[in-house]
Amino acid sequence: MQNNSIHGMWSSRLAFILAASGSAVGLGNIWRFPYLASDNGGGAFVLVYLGCILLVGLPIMAAEILMGRHGRMSPVNTLRKLTSEGGHSKGWVVIGWIGMAAAVLILSFYSVVGGWTLHYAWLYLQQLFGGAPITDPGATFGALLASPGTLVFWHSVFMLLTVGVVAMGVEKGLERAVKLLMPLLFLILLGLFAYGVSTGKVGQAFSFLFTPDFGKVDGNVLLAALGQAFFSLSLGMCGIMTYGAYLPRDISIPKVAGTVALMDTSVALLAGLAIFPVIFAFGLDPAGGGPGLIFTSLPLAFNDMPFGIPYALAFFVLLAVAAWTSSISLLEPPTAFIVEKGKVSRKGATLLAALGIWALGLVTALGFNVWSSVRVFDRDLQGAVEYIASDLMLPIGGLLIALFAAWVLRKEISQGELSDLGKTGFGLWKILCGIVAPGLVLVILYMKLFG
Ligand code: TRP
Repeated sequence: MQNNSIHGMWSSRLAFILAASGSAVGLGNIWRFPYLASDNGGGAFVLVYLGCILLVGLPIMAAEILMGRHGRMSPVNTLRKLTSEGGHSKGWVVIGWIGMAAAVLILSFYSVVGGWTLHYAWLYLQQLFGGAPITDPGATFGALLASPGTLVFWHSVFMLLTVGVVAMGVEKGLERAVKLLMPLLFLILLGLFAYGVSTGKVGQAFSFLFTPDFGKVDGNVLLAALGQAFFSLSLGMCGIMTYGAYLPRDISIPKVAGTVALMDTSVALLAGLAIFPVIFAFGLDPAGGGPGLIFTSLPLAFNDMPFGIPYALAFFVLLAVAAWTSSISLLEPPTAFIVEKGKVSRKGATLLAALGIWALGLVTALGFNVWSSVRVFDRDLQGAVEYIASDLMLPIGGLLIALFAAWVLRKEISQGELSDLGKTGFGLWKILCGIVAPGLVLVILYMKLFG
């Protein structure tokens, strides 16, 4: 058993919690969750989603952290180490490869959308100092998507911000960034939530998000909720596994996993309770807004509300910060993998990984304009990349992680890593991780693909 990782270590329990919550809390909570909820029937989606977090997300998060902490390397090499140590089939290393591929795909479109948030923060900063107001948000958003130059410019800026942190390493880069940015994120979010309360529409937002309508639950809602649970908790692609590799031995895995899942879910719900009241207060209809929801409907409200412009600026800074702490967790696994090859320094490895991902991001960026007629799986290019990575690869990766941790990994290892669960708790984890989670993932994937 190895006590330290060659890449560095988190200095404390808090550092890990902030880093893992920083990874989990991102565009998924503030951009993706609200539009998925409104496109999939509000309460029907949210309840299924919460079930997925508890029954699938939490046990798999524990599995990722424990595998990472035992392996202490990037995903592929952690899997190599675990399989050769235990004499298991090398085939399981595919978990690491799927994870790495998913990280690369996700970051490629994540960075483009992260760029949107920077662009909007910039627009509102200009407005604060007398720039032209956004009077037709649909047209503004449309113009952004139609301009390859603007999209690629902000995609590049976002990627550079991510590189800046990851290149500095675990302690001086990742840990320092999350310790600064996460408190800022919580502060802004609470401010926006307070504003939502002041509109008097929180009740309506609450019933929209929490009134169950099981008639609306079908295969699509189930798959979207499951995919979102994986996406939001950063699971299924070994990102949390990589962060687990830097976790000191004396820290309780169940406790940190529970804390991170709780933080992530609270932020998604709080974001919903901050955004929907504003949407309702201005008589807008959230349904069918798609990925553009917060970009096309919220600006309408920002124009008319008191302190709308500073509010808008805070909102997009919040989004950008949330996206930033997540994107560093997507760049870390491929970077660590390249470092482990032993040929380049961390700085070189970061640049190498980022350059490839940046280039792949051009597919997303150009998919909105130059290649807008290209359809894959009946989706535009961004939608297709997102669908393949988050709705298919994450659940499949998560399924394999769950099966490996529960049934293949030697019990001394898993039980040792989860020792403070006690016998009953460990048994419960094993049932959830080995049977319930894989079962649900399989049923939902089957329904989606063949149902
Ligand atoms: N969880 C992040 C969000 O909600 C996105 C993210 C970061 C992610 N790392 C990941 C998603 C790993 C899947 C896998 O925005």
